[in-house]
Amino acid sequence: MAFSSFLFFCLSFLVFTGSVSSTANDPIRTFIVHVQHDAKPSIFPTHENWYESALRSLSADTQSLEIGEAAANRIIHTYSNVFHGFSVKLSTLDAQKLEDFNGVLAVIPEQVRHVQTTRSPEFLGLSSADSAGLLKESDYGSDLVIGVIDTGIWPERKSFHDRDLGPVPAKWKGECVAGRDFPVTSCNRKLIGARYFSSGYEATNGKMNETKEFRSPRDSDGHGTHTASIAAGRYVFPASTLGYARGVAAGMAPKARLAAYKVCWSSGCYDADILAAFDAAVADGVHVISLSVGGVVVPYNLDAIAIAAFAATDAGIFVSASAGNGGPGGLTVTNVAPWVTNVGAGTIDRDFPADVKLGNGKIIPGVSIYGGPALTPHRLYPLIYAGSEGSDGYSSSLCLEGSLNPNYVQGKIVLCDRGVNSRAAKGLVVKKAGGMGMIIANGVFDGEGLVADSHVLPATAVGASAGDEIRKYISVASKSKSPPTATILFRGTLLNVRPAPVVASFSARGPNPESPEILKPDVIAPGVNILAAWPDGVAPSGLPWDTRRTEFNILSGTSMACPHVSGLGALLKAAHPGWSPAAIRSALMTTAYTVDNRGQIMMDESTRNSSTVMDFGAGHVHPQKAMDPGLIYDLTSYDYVDFLCNSNYTTKNIQVVTRKYSDCSKAKRAGHVGNLNYPSLSAVFQQYGTHKLSTHFIRTVTNVGDPNSVYHVIVKPPRGMVVTVEPEKLTFRRVGQKLNFLVRVQAEALKLSPGSSIVKSGSIVWSDGKHEVRSPIVVTMQEPL
Ligand SMILES: *[C@@H]1O[C@H](CO)[C@@H](O)[C@H](O)[C@H]1NC(C)=O
Ligand SMILES: *[C@@H]1O[C@H](CO)[C@@H](O)[C@H](O)[C@H]1NC(C)=O
Ligand SMILES: *[C@@H]1O[C@H](CO)[C@@H](O)[C@H](O)[C@H]1NC(C)=O
Repeated sequence: MAFSSFLFFCLSFLVFTGSVSSTANDPIRTFIVHVQHDAKPSIFPTHENWYESALRSLSADTQSLEIGEAAANRIIHTYSNVFHGFSVKLSTLDAQKLEDFNGVLAVIPEQVRHVQTTRSPEFLGLSSADSAGLLKESDYGSDLVIGVIDTGIWPERKSFHDRDLGPVPAKWKGECVAGRDFPVTSCNRKLIGARYFSSGYEATNGKMNETKEFRSPRDSDGHGTHTASIAAGRYVFPASTLGYARGVAAGMAPKARLAAYKVCWSSGCYDADILAAFDAAVADGVHVISLSVGGVVVPYNLDAIAIAAFAATDAGIFVSASAGNGGPGGLTVTNVAPWVTNVGAGTIDRDFPADVKLGNGKIIPGVSIYGGPALTPHRLYPLIYAGSEGSDGYSSSLCLEGSLNPNYVQGKIVLCDRGVNSRAAKGLVVKKAGGMGMIIANGVFDGEGLVADSHVLPATAVGASAGDEIRKYISVASKSKSPPTATILFRGTLLNVRPAPVVASFSARGPNPESPEILKPDVIAPGVNILAAWPDGVAPSGLPWDTRRTEFNILSGTSMACPHVSGLGALLKAAHPGWSPAAIRSALMTTAYTVDNRGQIMMDESTRNSSTVMDFGAGHVHPQKAMDPGLIYDLTSYDYVDFLCNSNYTTKNIQVVTRKYSDCSKAKRAGHVGNLNYPSLSAVFQQYGTHKLSTHFIRTVTNVGDPNSVYHVIVKPPRGMVVTVEPEKLTFRRVGQKLNFLVRVQAEALKLSPGSSIVKSGSIVWSDGKHEVRSPIVVTMQEPL
């Protein structure tokens, strides 16, 4: 077998002659090469030797490269845990050639990912209404390690102190890798591992600028410090940012250990490095991986994160990832693989109101975490709209650098449009031009969702309709005898805000672009105005010229929601060591809630209307209930293989994702893609002129509650549809017992215009009088074009 592989390999090598490695049209870029582990010809002592030889054979026929040129130098990382292979810079032509080599499963173009805070580099925080004392004070989690794949960590923060923690868990195999300003003593019994991966970043961008970035696990951005402390920060009191959100700061699993894997650098997070981090995290022995990074959605066999996450899940690691900040539009959710727990963002019941008072007496709600000297009380300041003056009305309305005329702005409050440039940077532009204050108004695309920023001057953010109202006031008053005036009323931190939670405008939404039969996001968690640890090297605004420093910062994004769920995952694993990653997710999903603190369906911040399952998935996580869910929907790697079979992935592509050879004929006979034993149910009907539509789902639940328990089903069908469940009663005699049931959905075709679709949702709930095990049912009716 080994011999024939080698022969084939040599033949492949001989066939490739006369090609050029790179031309202007075929630039060199990074590819991830996935090889079949056991295909290594025996003449190569190690896999590295094999990879180098393969690359040498590519360059041998390339004029621009010397024969046998240190091929190893072109290898960026080699991988041996999440899969076997390496990353390397190649021309597309060479990548195609390599794909035909014997033993090469796939050659996948690298993607660049980004951290998922909301647009500008400020926000986020921690401290959730749901993370009640019960969980925080338990000793749960002290044997567990959460790996945070992010921008690194600022190890000196109090959130990462190791007081009262036992020794590093004996099974831990990770390391504290030293680097610039990061001696090995930076790690302790809390931060038990730290590594950094920059070869992929530098292969594309050239050497990093070491005055701007640390060649070490140290965080020069803030995002990774923030997310790590959300997942597992210790209690810190008092904690606040510029006087806002005062109180105790603590992560979801304050006793869990942390390992930081730095993969994000100034221009993004490169797949080659992300994979290396997954590879190391699996070998190190983490129990949870938290990934607040995302980007494009591609088929799973071309998605390096999906492939790495599969291997991690297969190793029993709970992987949670941020949904993305592409909301409020549909089809925006990312990190959608069914083996990854996908987390959207909601608000908490805390707010930072900073209202605008207009000269006409009107009060308009806004938010801010500005903490400097206030505006003079009871005084109204002249108010102008940045977009109504200057040479270029459009660009200046965004308050870009150099766009404001000091003669015009001096002493005034300036209304700027939000756009996509840094909100805090606008504040500096207004301040430099002599402005007294600033109002940032959302555009139509931003809707009504507000994000509080730590501005450098008195400033607040208002929604799209408020922006229209203020612009109208300015334009009318400018022509009247009483010119436009305003002030900003900073009202500090407001608690017990209603309604809460509300689905954040920016939170990415379903349907799932890759597998519409799997509802994503899975859940939402706190992700708006979250307080968490912050590095010394970065201002709370994230702006280079802002010299303020804070121990904590308030940020927003699905990046902040994800580590809440990562920390919860660690707590659940601690309480139930035998639970699989799918069981942990099931507990979070079936106990999630969908009504807010007014008792109504959670609102969508972008419309102020009710939100839907496409926005919140199963709902908002409820930590205490998740500890005792009653029943779970479990899954193994084989179930995911069947899912891929039923999603019509080829045997080869399934092998790329799962490293398993699969015979799909059995899976296909057994049913359809909706039969993945997922805690939510999603049917997609193509109407094709049929009048009656129907489908069924088979599900298996495992009893994790009381040994003798009887569950009855309560069905809430989507409006106008018939949903039946058989049997309607499940009688368990022991813990761990599994029982099956069948859900049949019948619908009548609707009048829809070609190409359009409609989504309806309902739920099924299994109840034993003590537990309510809830699954959403989503039905999408599509009229083909
Ligand atoms: C590196 O970054 C520093 C600080 O931002 C900057 O002043 C310097 O010009 C940069 N160097 C290079 C080579 O880009
Ligand atoms: C809010 O919901 C109502 C009733 O479903 C609908 O008519 C309206 O268009 C929605 N508004 C927005 C902004 O989506
Ligand atoms: C897979 O292919 C079969 C046969 O063409 C088709 O009926 C089915 O809908 C496909 N499934 C998916 C998930 O695309």
